[in-house]
Formats: sequence, C-alpha cells, structure tokens
Amino acid sequence: MIKHTDFSLKNFNTFGIDAKTSLFIEFNSEAELEKILNEEIDVNNKRFLILGEGSNVLFSEDFHGTVLRNSIEGIQIIYEDERKAVVKSGAGTHWDDLVEFCVRKNLWGIENLSLIPGTVGAAPIQNIGAYGAELKDVLVSVRGFKIGENKFIEMPKETLELSYRNSIFKTKLKNKFIITYVTIELDKSGKPNLSYTGLAKYFNGKNIKEIGIEEVRNAVIEIRRSKLPDPEILGSAGSFFKNPVVNTGTFNKLKLKYPDIVAYKVDEDHWKIPAGWLIDNAGLRGFRTGNTGTYEKQALVIVNYGNASGKEILDLAKFIQTKVKEKYQIELEPEVNII
Ligand code: FAD
Ligand code: EPU
Repeated sequence: MIKHTDFSLKNFNTFGIDAKTSLFIEFNSEAELEKILNEEIDVNNKRFLILGEGSNVLFSEDFHGTVLRNSIEGIQIIYEDERKAVVKSGAGTHWDDLVEFCVRKNLWGIENLSLIPGTVGAAPIQNIGAYGAELKDVLVSVRGFKIGENKFIEMPKETLELSYRNSIFKTKLKNKFIITYVTIELDKSGKPNLSYTGLAKYFNGKNIKEIGIEEVRNAVIEIRRSKLPDPEILGSAGSFFKNPVVNTGTFNKLKLKYPDIVAYKVDEDHWKIPAGWLIDNAGLRGFRTGNTGTYEKQALVIVNYGNASGKEILDLAKFIQTKVKEKYQIELEPEVNII
C-alpha cells in the first residue's frame, strides 16, 4: 500500500492538471483494499474517488477527499475450449496490455479497442468503445466491492445497463462500487470487424491476402495515432463530449441547413451526430485560448498546451457548449468525468 497526504495528481491524470488531493492511497490487492476500507477511510461517509490512470477525468479544482488508486494487476485465462477463451484481468492492468495479450493469443473481440488509454477496471464505467466495437460485446462480468452492502460481489453483464458511453456505474451505482476484476469472453476463430468505414478504407488497396488479428490491431493503432494526441506529449482526456443523438425531424432540419453534416443512423427514428463535426463546423477546430484549446486534428478533443488549470479547461468546455447550442440548438453532454 502506498500512501501520501496533500499530494499532487499532475502525473495521475492525462490532462496533466496539477490538482491536489488531501489523501492518496494506492492498493494492489483486494485484501489491501479491504484493509484500507476498514482502517483508513469510511467510504460510506467520507468523500473519495476511485482512480485508474486518470484518462477520463477532469480535476476542475483540488480534491478534498481521498483518492483510491486501483493497481490490482494480472491477466489469467480461466477457461478455454476449442471455440472460445474466458479471460479475467485485474482492474489495475493497463487496458492495452490486456488487448496485446489477447491479440498475441489470437483471441478475437477487443483488437478494435487497441490503444485506448486507461485501466481495465475503468473500461466498464463508460463501456469503452472505438472503431465499431464496445466492451459490452465481450464482457461477461465484473467483480468488486459494493459499498453499502460492504462485501465483494460479482455482477454479470446483464445487470450493468451498458449502453453508448454509459453504465450503471455512472448512474445508480455512481461511487458505490469499486471494480477489482473484469472478465471477458473472446472468440478463437473470429473475423475482422471492419464495420467502421475508416478501418475498412485503411485496408482498401493494401493488397493484404488475409486480414488477421495483428493487422487489425496495427491498423487501429495507426489510425488512432494519426487522429488523437498522445497524452505523453499533449494532455487531453480524449473526446470531451459524447456524440449527441437526435430524432429524424431534428436531423432533417439540420441536413437542410448543413447538407455536408455527418450522421449515423441509430434506429428508425434516431441519428448520432459527431460532436467533432458540430464543433469543427462552428469554426472551433484548433481554437486556442490561453493554455487550452481544441486539437487541430480533432475538434472534440480539448487539450492542455502547458499549465492549464482544470477551471480553464472547464471554461472552454462551457464556451463550446454555448456556441454549439446557439448554432444548432443541440446540448453537448460531457463524456469526461468532471470532478
Ligand atoms: P479514470 O480516468 O481513472 O476514471 C474514469 C472513471 O471511472 C472515474 O469516474 C473513476 O472514478 C471510475 N473508475 C476508474 N476505475 C474504477 C474502478 N476500478 N472501479 C470503479 N470506478 C472506477 N474512451 C473510449 O471509450 N474510446 C476511445 O476511443 C477513447 N480514446 C481516448 C483517447 C485518449 C487520447 C484519451 C486520453 C482517452 C480516451 N478515452 C477513450 C477515454 C479513456 O481512455 C477511457 O474512459 C478509460 O476507460 C479510462 O480509464 P482510466 O483508468 O484512465 O479511468
Ligand atoms: N469530424 C470533423 N471534424 C472534427 C472531428 C471529426 O468533421 O474535428 C468528423 C469526421 O470527419 C468524421 C466524424 O466527424 O466523419 C467522426 O469522427 P471520428 O471518426 O474521429 O470519431 P468521433 O465520433 O469523433 C468517436 C469516439 C472516439 C473513438 C472514435 C473511433 C465518442 C465521443 N468518441 O469519435 O472515442 O475513438 O469514435 O471509434 O464517441 C473517446 O471516447 O475519448 C474517444 C476518443
């Protein structure tokens, strides 16, 4: 167990915000977590935050409470037959290490989620997704400590209310469940999922005889590197907002006014519009104010050019929301967890 008081979180969030926490405790086993909950902090009554790698949080000010950093590691195949493998991973494992492990073993299902920053334990929180895949496609269950019941329990996928960038952990169980393990089921004879147009295009004309799992992983990594900032170089938390979903009536009106608008059909009456397109088309791609701005290659990503404070980033986010609302009458909802 590692413990610090009055501790800077600058190296523990990918925005690189220099916010302080009153107490920082890192645990690497369920036994250590239990000891912390018994001896160090009463999570039923005191303010706390579970932190993975801080790649989806914005510290808008200092955190007056306890940050519990999850570092439970380890990846294990717990069942396999000729068709599938069930893999269990510690919540503190780096997500892309799990992807790499599975790709090496030719286990299909998460290769499209290559290079997403963060820990395995945070992946169910917003049901991470990219390039036509989502965690919910492969998730079996999560294990963790349920605050209130004060015991470790297993929660099957069906109980987690997983949807686009959402789960029960962002609603009913917000701050009520500490994930310690995640179990997924992968396919031994999968096929490449090229449903995302950009990924299919990548392979067009490349003359690859058979697109294997390694090729898919490498393509996703290359596309991501060309579009998204590397948090080691430029601070961000990826997409700052969710892509809004509108009904067909609203979409048709927008299409009349903006014939080039990009949209994906969700169902008979709903369309998902890339927030990046809305922000870009409002003239705000590459916009910069003080230490912060929108990324020049992806308007949906707010970046920290240096020593931005959390408040500066939050102010820019609010400015973008106002501009988008004025222009299109659409409310952008943050994807990032604002603390
Ligand atoms: P943190 O930021 O530490 O935490 C996020 C939330 O989860 C917080 O509310 C925290 O309290 C909670 N939490 C974390 N761990 C636990 C736990 N063990 N138990 C309970 N609650 C927990 N996301 C995508 O979905 N798709 C992408 O393509 C994508 N691309 C990104 C690109 C970049 C450059 C960056 C910086 C981020 C991107 N993200 C993307 C967002 C981010 O990578 C994911 O949300 C990731 O799952 C966050 O992991 P983390 O460990 O950093 O979580
Ligand atoms: N676009 C613009 N201008 C921009 C940005 C985007 O016109 O500045 C247009 C693009 O040309 C494209 C469309 O918007 O036609 C969609 O852009 P992109 O493919 O980059 O994806 P996105 O919708 O912006 C989502 C996720 C990403 C994920 C990618 C790939 C959300 C909020 N974001 O981005 O997730 O990696 O798709 O699947 O759903 C994250 O969650 O942090 C994240 C990076």
